[in-house]
Amino acid sequence: MPDFITVAKVADLKPGQAKMILAGGHQIALFNVHGNFYATSNLCLHMGGPLGDGDLSDQVVSCPYHGWEYDVISGECLTSSNLKVQTYPVQVNGEEIQIAI
Ligand code: FES
Repeated sequence: MPDFITVAKVADLKPGQAKMILAGGHQIALFNVHGNFYATSNLCLHMGGPLGDGDLSDQVVSCPYHGWEYDVISGECLTSSNLKVQTYPVQVNGEEIQIAI
């Protein structure tokens, strides 16, 4: 079993919102998709744009720099096929959002 660490509170992230967090020395983007939480690397595979600052529409985030799109559940890049951002397991424990790095 991976170790989960608390990175945010459920109340910190409303449905449709994204935010960048630091955990275990990694920049991670955290997303609330209709009440379910997902985490990917924060770094866009194009030029390192911050996905946690991107616009989230359902499960797709658009990079704020040049608009590359990613499925935040699978990590797949929808703009450039065969590319995938790292995803991280997420769990909710009471009011805490936890991620396994
Ligand atoms: S850095 Fe993300 S689309 Fe260019």
